Amino acid sequence: MLNAIGSKVDLSDSNLEYHYLVADLLENETVLKMMEFPHHGDTTCFQHCLNVSYYNYKVCRFFSLNERAGARAGLLHDLFLYDWHTYKPAKGERLHGFTHAGTALKNVRDNFYISDLEADIIEKHMFPLNITAFPKYRETLVIVLVDKYCGLLETVIPRLRRVGTAFKKLGAKAKKA
Ligand SMILES: [Fe+2]
Ligand SMILES: [Fe+2]
Repeated sequence: MLNAIGSKVDLSDSNLEYHYLVADLLENETVLKMMEFPHHGDTTCFQHCLNVSYYNYKVCRFFSLNERAGARAGLLHDLFLYDWHTYKPAKGERLHGFTHAGTALKNVRDNFYISDLEADIIEKHMFPLNITAFPKYRETLVIVLVDKYCGLLETVIPRLRRVGTAFKKLGAKAKKA
């Protein structure tokens, strides 16, 4: 069972249009390798990319944009394949936040055929941090927003859950006392 954060839809269901659009990527070894790397909080890089991919798909579909490119580039947008928490940039190299979109694009090009639109979505998803990587397509503007929205959910929801669990435990203790 595969779910995007905040959704109960099983994304492994082959009857879903979303699944049809990304089915080959969901079985690809390089893409699955992202499961090995933590991203935000308890969320792996793969889960983050799945979250972004699904909401990209939904938003693009809603606005009659290219939902296929949104879904596929979303799933590939952070394919940099290292743990950014412990990554040390080489001498003269800029920090992860500035470089990883380019690294992901290179890895994607090494493994898949992608369109210009998909390349733009991947390469410029860190705008406006990468201020010179100005989005060329509306689908790229979608990922700029969706990526930040998912990052926020991935950081906040686990913390809220932990606070909720702590309160429940406190409540249980108070009842016993
Ligand atoms: Fe990113
Ligand atoms: Fe991301």
